[in-house]
Amino acid sequence: MPVRGLQAASTPAHADDAGLEVDQLTVRFGGLLALDEVSLAVAPHEVVGLIGPNGAGKTTLFNVVSGFVRATRGRISWRGRPLRGHRAHDLGRLGIARTLQGVGLCQGLTAIENVACGAQPSLHAGLGSALSGLWRSSREERRIENEAAALLAELGVADCSRRLPGSLPYGVQKRVALARALIGHPRLLLLDEPASGLSADDIDDLSSLLHGLRERTSVLLVEHRMDFVMATCDRIVVLNFGEVVATGTPAEIQASPEVTEAYLGDAVSAVQSRTAEGSADAAG
Ligand SMILES: Nc1ncnc2c1ncn2[C@@H]1O[C@H](COP(=O)(O)OP(=O)(O)OP(=O)(O)O)[C@@H](O)[C@H]1O
Ligand SMILES: [Mg+2]
Repeated sequence: MPVRGLQAASTPAHADDAGLEVDQLTVRFGGLLALDEVSLAVAPHEVVGLIGPNGAGKTTLFNVVSGFVRATRGRISWRGRPLRGHRAHDLGRLGIARTLQGVGLCQGLTAIENVACGAQPSLHAGLGSALSGLWRSSREERRIENEAAALLAELGVADCSRRLPGSLPYGVQKRVALARALIGHPRLLLLDEPASGLSADDIDDLSSLLHGLRERTSVLLVEHRMDFVMATCDRIVVLNFGEVVATGTPAEIQASPEVTEAYLGDAVSAVQSRTAEGSADAAG
């Protein structure tokens, strides 16, 4: 019972007007149907939440978009062009960045070094720097380091830049991972459970941060924390057993008794009752 179907995306005139379009994507792992003709779209500057119970296929969808897993059937287009046959290392060049479920930082590198690892070498690095000598590559390194420092400052964790991830609180590590994704200037950010393990304050901050980021990127996020999803996303896609069972605004998803009962259960009920309490407080 879809709340609202896939937005019928008319063919954009320019790549800048086109985002991610996933069309009838199917993934089989042997006998397991992990994704079953899943269609969804993320427009430029849009924040879309992908939710559903454990094993619904959320990370698998990220893995296909990221080039880690091949689809059995279906199509993906990105900025008006087919996205197929790509590998995970092509993502930066394509303008897509991803954070992993968990944190996924290199434990032997400092925070700023981890962020710098996410930078795409510009044309000046690689062959260019090999030909023109060390001066150019050290200039490139400085540029990346300055950018990494600026991003850590923007995310409010500048003071951790020379520390190793293991010595940092979990919420700070998550921000470092986000900075690493942002340094490549992505036009699409895939965030797998960005709020997991965060305190309520950190979750509020992350939600504001993502609202601010929409100027520069669209976001597709997987998340189990329903309060965060409802506060952060423009649209939500609900997956269950590999199928899209609903698509709609947070209000539409929360208002759908079938979705809340069957797939979200107490999580959304809790959000609804908090929202109701908030309204009552505001009214009173
Ligand atoms: N590489 C793989 N090989 C075989 N089965 C897989 C593989 N990756 C995922 N699966 C299976 O596909 C289904 C979907 O898994 P997926 O990790 O996409 O779920 P999810 O929605 O991200 O769940 P969670 O909320 O627990 O992270 C699960 O049954 C999982 O066991
Ligand atoms: Mg997952």
